[in-house]
Amino acid sequence: MNTEKMFGQLGASAVTTLTIRRPDDWHVHLRDGDMMKAVLPFTTSQFARAVVMPNLTPPITTVAAARAYRDRILAARPEGSDFTPLMTCYLTEETSADEVETGFQEGVWVACKLYPVGATTNSSHGVTDLARIGPVLERMERIGMPVLIHGEATDPAVDIFDRESFFIENSLQRLIKRHQGLKIVLEHVTTVEGVAIVRENATRMAATITPHHLVLNRTSLFQGGLRPNFYCLPVAKREHHRQALRRAAVSGEPCFFLGTDSAPHLREAKQAECCSAGIFCGPTALQTYAQVFDEEDSLCRLESFASCNGPSFYGLPVNHDTITLHRRRDLSDRSLQVGRSEVAKFRGGEWLAWSIGEVSE
Ligand code: NCD
Ligand code: ZN
Repeated sequence: MNTEKMFGQLGASAVTTLTIRRPDDWHVHLRDGDMMKAVLPFTTSQFARAVVMPNLTPPITTVAAARAYRDRILAARPEGSDFTPLMTCYLTEETSADEVETGFQEGVWVACKLYPVGATTNSSHGVTDLARIGPVLERMERIGMPVLIHGEATDPAVDIFDRESFFIENSLQRLIKRHQGLKIVLEHVTTVEGVAIVRENATRMAATITPHHLVLNRTSLFQGGLRPNFYCLPVAKREHHRQALRRAAVSGEPCFFLGTDSAPHLREAKQAECCSAGIFCGPTALQTYAQVFDEEDSLCRLESFASCNGPSFYGLPVNHDTITLHRRRDLSDRSLQVGRSEVAKFRGGEWLAWSIGEVSE
């Protein structure tokens, strides 16, 4: 499993099989009910743990709600799965610091999720002004609990492609200064500016990077017509941003780690007059990351990104089991049936260069 050494001897292009420590997904939307039952196996078959986003309706804002949601996920795991959901608390302007600390100390949730109000799917209970949650952030800083940030400005006057960089400049910089010890994850980073601020604050800051932002740019959204299944928030940016994300992901730097942001929506919600934001990338996530690392001649650092950097940031042990990936073409099916509808899979219908093999102890 010393992948650096293995590649040193073989040369990356000779590698047809790659065994890495079992990865975790540090950002996923598992939803609830039938949707959760349908999408969960894609996460449990690849990842040992996942940070589960709290943007249900209503959002997960209390310890009791998080416990109950965790129980529903645990009950829905496929037979024999030892998958561990790591829960999060949805921050509102009413969230109490005591509630946040109780859930953290009792091991119910590992972090709080901060949505600027109206930034994305189910964010209407989010925060209008970061100053209003100052006391909660102070408490989190004191107890070492990370805040996971959807880093986009929500002022409709700000161009949608500038919302991340605008948020960094006008909100995040200040928050970083005001809370000098707060652990922060800039979720699903999409810009050069995002990568830079994370690097500058890498002693206590990190970013998750999605598979789709590594392969799509904003032109992809209009390739041959309007592509609702490529629409997510933050929206994919210009090519030079995508290149910066790829360099960050494959760099091996501890401040960048895997977070799929797999966000399923039924076909009716995607193919609508007003299409919901979110890409269901769960089924092809690890295959896509492997392909990107392969294309960047960096397979030897996939394990750091997927399996080591996240646990180290969260102060959790790495997994001991392994997963094997094969350089073997595999046709991904197009969609997943959910009730009487379906969810389109990211890269569905495509031949993937890498496929997932066995999980071993
Ligand atoms: C997510 C969703 O659908 O819940 N959508 C998305 O485009 N990523 C919410 C989020 O993470 O922004
Ligand atoms: Zn998300």
